Amino acid sequence: MRYAAPVPLKRPFLKWAGGKTKLVPAIREFVPAGTRRLIEPFIGSGAVALNLALPMAILADANADLISVYRELQQGGEKFVAACAALFTPSANESAVYYTRRAEFNASSNRRRKAGLFIYLNRHGYNGLCRYNASGGFNVPFGRYKAPRFPRDELHAFHAVLQNCELRHADFRDVLAEAGEGDFVYCDPPYVPASATANFTAYAKGAFGKLEQADLAACCRVAARRGATVVLSNHDTPGTRALYADADQQRELLVGRRISCHAANRGAARELLVVYRPSRLLV
Ligand SMILES: C[S@@+](CC[C@H](N)C(=O)[O-])C[C@H]1O[C@@H](n2cnc3c(N)ncnc32)[C@H](O)[C@@H]1O
Repeated sequence: MRYAAPVPLKRPFLKWAGGKTKLVPAIREFVPAGTRRLIEPFIGSGAVALNLALPMAILADANADLISVYRELQQGGEKFVAACAALFTPSANESAVYYTRRAEFNASSNRRRKAGLFIYLNRHGYNGLCRYNASGGFNVPFGRYKAPRFPRDELHAFHAVLQNCELRHADFRDVLAEAGEGDFVYCDPPYVPASATANFTAYAKGAFGKLEQADLAACCRVAARRGATVVLSNHDTPGTRALYADADQQRELLVGRRISCHAANRGAARELLVVYRPSRLLV
């Protein structure tokens, strides 16, 4: 018997804590045949949207800077890519230039320039982190990489996907409220802590605590009752298993962790994939 070769996975143009490229093959298994629309309320670097490439999508995130980058790429195309490329010169890989540009990013109200700077900061900053201080200023230190690469091909690939997408700067509750029959929803929220010290919650202003995790579980259930297929990933902890005890399926997965400042945390992490299938019983 001959098996089809696996489709190579595309990489997003942004480095992002909790990027889900490695989970794509497992997530893809749950996409019902004939699905027309993907809804991702926690888009991050967009690894899943990029690789599922469904005919339509709503891509959303609470991080306004991130959604602004996607809007500029969606509308500006090659012109925007060229403006970003101009920021990636060898002389720009210096801490003085980095900190000048970081200050410019925090002060700027020019959307296109700010979006280009976001990509520059993402590739030249420490560990590709996206972190803000209490006043909302981006505060990631210089990353000291040898030669940050300009992700031209990755930007082109994402630009193609964005042509059929609606972008939303929104809270997950508002986005999930739109999910219904025929939609495939993938939720990749900030992780519940895997240990007392682990913390992946500083992506956007405002914390993502127990209340948000519980609200999210409730929104997923309701979306499935309206006819959507919902897949969610989070750390595999007793708390996550309990929160999603009523899901149609729970599948554990081992994934490599790429962004962590602690070498000990960079190994494989246990994740739980939770699936709610469409059920119209309670509506
Ligand atoms: C784990 S990351 C998503 C990673 C993404 N799947 C990827 O492959 O790169 C979680 C995302 O949730 C976003 N987020 C945090 N709180 C949110 C909220 N209340 N509503 C919507 N998005 C939120 C963060 O800005 C972050 O981009």
